[in-house]
Amino acid sequence: MTSSSTTSPTSPAVPDFSGEVAAYYAEYRRGYPPAVLDALVRTFALDAHPGVGDVALDLGCGTGQLALPLAARVRTVIGMDPEPEMLRQARSAAGRAGVRNALWLLGTDADVPGLAGLLPGDRPLGVTVIGNALHWMRPDELFGGLSPLTRPGGGVAVIANGAPVWAQDTDWSQALRAALEEHFGRPITASCGTDTAERERYAASLTAAGFADVRETVITYEDALTPDQLLGTLYSAIPAPSLPGPADRPAFAARLRAALPAPPTAAGYPEHVRVSLLTGRR
Ligand SMILES: C[S@@+](CC[C@H](N)C(=O)[O-])C[C@H]1O[C@@H](n2cnc3c(N)ncnc32)[C@H](O)[C@@H]1O
Repeated sequence: MTSSSTTSPTSPAVPDFSGEVAAYYAEYRRGYPPAVLDALVRTFALDAHPGVGDVALDLGCGTGQLALPLAARVRTVIGMDPEPEMLRQARSAAGRAGVRNALWLLGTDADVPGLAGLLPGDRPLGVTVIGNALHWMRPDELFGGLSPLTRPGGGVAVIANGAPVWAQDTDWSQALRAALEEHFGRPITASCGTDTAERERYAASLTAAGFADVRETVITYEDALTPDQLLGTLYSAIPAPSLPGPADRPAFAARLRAALPAPPTAAGYPEHVRVSLLTGRR
């Protein structure tokens, strides 16, 4: 197992969201409430030209948690991700949901400048959203590349969709973290781009790339995770090489369940979900 403590619970230098991790992601990762989509529409005037509409880029789209609801608010959404299995899951979720204005592109942040030749017009993008993914990218280069692709009044939204399940301020989250630290044999400090220092760095980087009116919008809500949802969400964040294999997973799950307190309500473990949108406009 390789390590860098600012990325994910087991922190590979290169993210590996293949195979089962993508399947867990598709099934268990929380989506985005309508208020997040409303905030994007408001901030970037995505509803200014009904019948024409914008092109949106969801970079690091994963299994489409954000791209799919965003598709209803724009002309076309491009979901871009370097992990083929994530894209396969996203495409299949789009099919099930009847979403027909999404397309799925294999690529990383480094491939963004190449979109210029693919898309019509001078500044073809209305909005680029990056949900829980910027910590894998190079923000300065990325924002510099997005700036000339973004229409006036459009922009970039760097979204943190709540704190990771091992990093919340609750007894169950602390118990989970302790059990993971025992299993992996090291401190688990990954915040996946949600901590204040990282967000401040991203804000400075947006400003340096020429984005204006850089600000944070916060949307909060209460939720709960059943024990199965909690484990599924956790597995979706463990890089594939570090996820205990199918034969070892029941024992891993049993150790984690034994370390957790009993869920306080029938709904499960309570979560105060804080969604932060860091936005900058052209
Ligand atoms: C934690 S998931 C986030 C998925 C989704 N955006 C969401 O909000 O739930 C991070 C995604 O970033 C992708 N990713 C990793 N490195 C990337 C890069 N350099 N450029 C674009 N996407 C990347 C991963 O493959 C993964 O699907």
